[in-house]
Amino acid sequence: MKLERYGHGGDLATATEAYGLPQESWLDYSSNMNPWGPPEIVGELMKEHWRDVAKYPDPAVRRLRAKLSETYRIPAESILVGNGAAELIDLVVRVFKPEETVLARPSFSEYEEAVLKAGGRTRSVLLREERMFELANAREFASGAVFLGHPNNPTGRLIPAHVLDELREAGSRMIIDEAFMDFVPDEEELSYIRRASESEQIQVIRSMTKFYAIPGIRLGFMVAHPDLIRRLAEAQTAWSVNFLAQLVGEAVLDERAYAERTKTWLLEERPWLSGELRSLGLVVYPSDVNFLLVSLAGLEGWNVGRLQRAMAGRGILIRDASLFEGLNDSYFRIAIRLRPDNERLIKELKECLR
Ligand SMILES: Cc1ncc(COP(=O)(O)O)c(C=O)c1O
Repeated sequence: MKLERYGHGGDLATATEAYGLPQESWLDYSSNMNPWGPPEIVGELMKEHWRDVAKYPDPAVRRLRAKLSETYRIPAESILVGNGAAELIDLVVRVFKPEETVLARPSFSEYEEAVLKAGGRTRSVLLREERMFELANAREFASGAVFLGHPNNPTGRLIPAHVLDELREAGSRMIIDEAFMDFVPDEEELSYIRRASESEQIQVIRSMTKFYAIPGIRLGFMVAHPDLIRRLAEAQTAWSVNFLAQLVGEAVLDERAYAERTKTWLLEERPWLSGELRSLGLVVYPSDVNFLLVSLAGLEGWNVGRLQRAMAGRGILIRDASLFEGLNDSYFRIAIRLRPDNERLIKELKECLR
């Protein structure tokens, strides 16, 4: 049974069906969550406010939008909150219906699924291994719409500023998924949020589930010109952002110490883990975020299917990256976790590959 049978990593229920280990026993490297877990305040709010689920949530998500507006210094009218970035990926494509959408490959599979569901078609531009999967130029992109991860999943790389500038000049509709941007130290400078709030050409999608480790809550937001936000809001399902998600979203934005700790940890852990993986003979690509794309190309007899099964047998889940168009069966993706887990990962990988 494919561990990604529902299209994503982090599917512990499927892993348990396939291998029999209880869900809480897995060491999950296959989904890219902040390993510090949800901030404590999330638990406190749930305990304190559980009775409030007896009421409908605010349909206009006013308090959280005001908080996002203050945090990112953009008008609240430019913000639409959604049931995870996943809802907004779907919504933006459903509302704007571009005929052709250009995707860089490999990239997050939901972009294509959303386009096809909305009756559009996609065109792929390949990110090249020899360029370390960096998007090199915008020449191949001249099209009605482009949907890009910034940073991109599964490659973990930011889009160079000159490429984004060229796309802007070419007049493409730019839908930019910044689901992992919070992990980038120069986030404020590199994010397109500010530009999206002013221009009809650019829409930015953000997730709050990765950085705050709350994927079970479902929370993301979109930034766009207020006229576009109004159109998107009209097409959104009523009450799609539940009461707890709104409350939690507001509170985690104040968790400055949590954010700092996460960024400091990542700056140290990413080079350490990359170095350890390289010392096992693996090829590790440069990453700007909290996960790594890795290749088994140098190791004879190994492919990702074999490694994923062997590691699952040891209680560790890794993401089969060959399922991303543009990658072959030598690629896998792993999250970066805290040092004790990472030491166990390296030990098990070493034994496995021996
Ligand atoms: C690149 C990218 N964008 C968006 C999402 C969806 O995030 P959310 O949990 O906010 O729906 C994911 C989840 O894996 C992702 O990897």
